[in-house]
Amino acid sequence: MKKAVETLTREEAAAELAFLAEQIALNDIAYHQKDAPLISDADYDALKRRNDAIEERFPDLRRSDSPSLKVGAATADGFEKVVHTVPMLSLGNLFSEEDVFDFMAKIRRFLGLPDNAEIEMVAEPKIDGLSFSAVYEDGHLTVAATRGDGAVGENITANLKTIKDLPNPLNEISENLFDAPVHHIEVRGEVYMSKTDFLALNQMQATAGKKTFANPRNAAAGSLRQLDAAITATRPLKLFAYAVGAVDVEPWQTHAAFLEKLKSWGFPVNPLIRVCKNEAEMLSFYRDMIERRSSLDYDIDGVVYKVNRLDLQRRLGFIARSPRWAVAHKFPAQQAVTRLKRIRIQVGRTGALTPVADLEPVNVGGVLVSHATLHNADELVRKDIREGDTVVIQRAGDVIPQVVRVLTDKRPTGAIPFVFPDACPACGARAVREGDDAVIYCTGSLTCPAQVVEGLKHFVSKNALDIEGLGEKNIELFYRLGWLCSSKDIFSLEKNHAFDILQLEGWGQKSASNLFEAIARVAAGTDLDRFIYALGIREVGEATARVLAHHFGTWAAFETAMKKENARDQLLEIESVGPVMADYIADFFAEPHNQALLQELCSAVVVRPFISDTGRSLPLAGKTIVFTGTLTEMTRAEAKALALAAGAKVASSVSAKTSFVVAGAAAGSKLKTAENLNIPVVSEADFHQMLDSTQKTSYDDKKTYRKTI
Ligand code: IVH
Repeated sequence: MKKAVETLTREEAAAELAFLAEQIALNDIAYHQKDAPLISDADYDALKRRNDAIEERFPDLRRSDSPSLKVGAATADGFEKVVHTVPMLSLGNLFSEEDVFDFMAKIRRFLGLPDNAEIEMVAEPKIDGLSFSAVYEDGHLTVAATRGDGAVGENITANLKTIKDLPNPLNEISENLFDAPVHHIEVRGEVYMSKTDFLALNQMQATAGKKTFANPRNAAAGSLRQLDAAITATRPLKLFAYAVGAVDVEPWQTHAAFLEKLKSWGFPVNPLIRVCKNEAEMLSFYRDMIERRSSLDYDIDGVVYKVNRLDLQRRLGFIARSPRWAVAHKFPAQQAVTRLKRIRIQVGRTGALTPVADLEPVNVGGVLVSHATLHNADELVRKDIREGDTVVIQRAGDVIPQVVRVLTDKRPTGAIPFVFPDACPACGARAVREGDDAVIYCTGSLTCPAQVVEGLKHFVSKNALDIEGLGEKNIELFYRLGWLCSSKDIFSLEKNHAFDILQLEGWGQKSASNLFEAIARVAAGTDLDRFIYALGIREVGEATARVLAHHFGTWAAFETAMKKENARDQLLEIESVGPVMADYIADFFAEPHNQALLQELCSAVVVRPFISDTGRSLPLAGKTIVFTGTLTEMTRAEAKALALAAGAKVASSVSAKTSFVVAGAAAGSKLKTAENLNIPVVSEADFHQMLDSTQKTSYDDKKTYRKTI
């Protein structure tokens, strides 16, 4: 007879979790790969439930190979999924030297440091490969994964193990006497293929009549993501390690020291990495990398700057999906000259009319470009861009190519200035300029097919509801066929059009059921912040959606608040919501058409509350805080970020809903209001104490990063 979970000791729990991980994995293999189940479904479910219950009581004992981290087991045509304990975030981009100064100024401001304060930065080449995460337990690789969507990746353990560069076990696991030993660490880095190996591989592929790869990055991705790891083993893959994910202890104080530790464990660390004292050194590293770029045997597409001190990294934290303490400085755009055939007007989801240039296709730094954005009507006039012109275009990274200037001496005779239409080209509604806005908008709103289609594309896009298999082409097609007229139709697509979809060219049972499964997964549970972002409310980007989700906590609370007379005022109470944004949000909810749509959407989709899925209570969860006066130990921005990370809401004015006020020096009217309303007032030091439990960077704390703002 098994002991009740409540009575298990830590040791017993750890031993049983190890046993369960092994048993469940064995059953998974028997069931999914051998089609020969060993136990009944009910018994299998009981094992999983027991595992979950023990993990809930001892969250820090959750193993990296825990069955609860696996979403669905490996199937014949796909990789097993791995949930990243600490999400794999992306980096913000800088494009100019001025951007680098601004980035550093922001860091100083956030930390409350003087303008000339020295902040050591580590500068690294930005490797153009694909990122990996590799979890080590006591020096042995247990699970490796791709980045995937940042939250869930693919299990590539067998594939990564074939790369000779990867140390396994780690070289030196007995640590320096003064260091705390690291038992659990997730090392992150980039897998790449050298330029030489890429050329040789392509030659071999061509000789064997097999498909060749467009560039080393694609070759690395195609080689790593092979279901049969034996194929990966034959491919010349290499890697560089450069970051840490989940870790139980961090006995190093700087990123540079961590890189040294990686080297001593046996990881390849890029030899060009340098510590820089100031902007001048960062920029000289950057220029040096541009010069060396072509002579390196691997592709780099920029450099990455990282704050060296980990204590500063922790204070800086994250904004939306990128860290404040690291950034990519992209290499300059590559340019080319081509002919502009036609200027076309594209209608966006908010109705914005954007002129787009159709170009004579031209190769720009290895990518074939046939369109470029012309931004807006004013830009067209300023640059005097005309149909038929010969133009200089440029592209940088993933950014949409742009027209830099016109070579006027090559202008054909008779070329006339472009006349911006005064009606929407998609629906014919009036096109108007709002105030001094440079953008001209279509006034057709939901009667404009282009706005509807763009809205649908946004709704299913990666950072919104992320419905795989419903790409732009399919949205356009399903809309044309009348199967998708609004976002709610997505959730009845299977019921109403399963048969029709199967009749379409290129669709089979497999692709159709993949699509329906992806839709069903989203319907079964989607994050509140994603859901709010997906609605496509003007001015509400990812970061704002996150702030709103955080503030209201649940969809019901948000919707109820937005239906009230004072919706706008409630929004204005949120620190980062300004009057324009508040108007757009309140207007969205006031629109009867949107109310009807939301009602239908919410009966089809389960929207998860914002914080509860982190599985632990944050120290300031449910509290609404107001800051006033001058803080001495940190800046207002930092205090606010810390409060949000600790689960609190930050309001701009004191009301009966305020839980407490943090008062710094020379606090004024807000302090008075708090006293009048009998709202508790705490000092900056008290506030620090309340936060203390979020300051650690233990393995467990890092799990909440996705939810930090
Ligand atoms: S650090 C939280 N360092 O660039 C920061 N990333 O645009 C984690 N990359 O997804 C990333 N070289 O795949 C870092 N030296 C380097 C890198 C690097 C390449 C890639 C990585 C990341 C992407 C972000």
